[in-house]
Amino acid sequence: MKPIFEDKETGIRLYFGDALELLKKLPEESADLIFADPPYNLSNDGFTCHAGKRVSVNKGEWDKSKGIEEDFLFHYKWIEACKRVLKPNGTIWISGTYHSIYACGFALQKQGWHIINDICWFKPNASPNLSCRMFTASHETLIWAKKDKKAKHIFNYDLMRNGDWNGDFLKKPNKQMRSVWAINTPKNEEKKHGKHPTQKPESLLKRIILASSKEGDVVLDPFCGSGTTGVVALRYGRKFIGID
Ligand SMILES: C[S@@+](CC[C@H](N)C(=O)[O-])C[C@H]1O[C@@H](n2cnc3c(N)ncnc32)[C@H](O)[C@@H]1O
Repeated sequence: MKPIFEDKETGIRLYFGDALELLKKLPEESADLIFADPPYNLSNDGFTCHAGKRVSVNKGEWDKSKGIEEDFLFHYKWIEACKRVLKPNGTIWISGTYHSIYACGFALQKQGWHIINDICWFKPNASPNLSCRMFTASHETLIWAKKDKKAKHIFNYDLMRNGDWNGDFLKKPNKQMRSVWAINTPKNEEKKHGKHPTQKPESLLKRIILASSKEGDVVLDPFCGSGTTGVVALRYGRKFIGID
């Protein structure tokens, strides 16, 4: 399997294609950490608000729902493929909204993964709701899981407790990191190389990668989009495999 980009010095490999096919070709137990931000299945021709303007919620063809059964099967299959590729003590993070995250959680449970935490990523700068007939959506859920309850996963507790987590107004200094993370959507400077409709903020990936991996580890993202996970993995001395 040939990457479309490879840098042997830093340990980056990028693959272009279907995650379901490409994950099968990666060696068994070769990733220390997986971060996956799969399609949300929310592109249903609705509207949202961006920079004060009414805009379509549609992200692209890849984000259209094929119905709950087929969407669930897709999530079940890629999560199963990740289980083969993840090392025994490795962990997976999956992010999503209510459109997708319950299907991912159910797939994890059906496959016998052990859920360590679910994190509420609260977006203080979320867009307003235009209909004014419901609460304004302002969070995503992240599930953090390991292959087996007895697996010895990495959790850099001291760093999470004592690190300088700038901007997280829900965390007081020297207190345990809690499961609600207040992090703004990506800054403009993170979009200077182009826009991706569902780009994750670097500070979210920084927390995930520093919490649950160590230097030299292999981080895999099977739906890497603009490459946020890779940028942060590289910044903190991790290797990176990205698929999109
Ligand atoms: C929610 S976005 C990920 C955004 C990414 N976390 C970032 O920070 O830019 C999901 C990505 O999955 C990709 N995708 C959708 N279906 C896929 C598939 N079957 N295999 C691989 N990638 C897929 C899309 O092209 C899209 O870039």
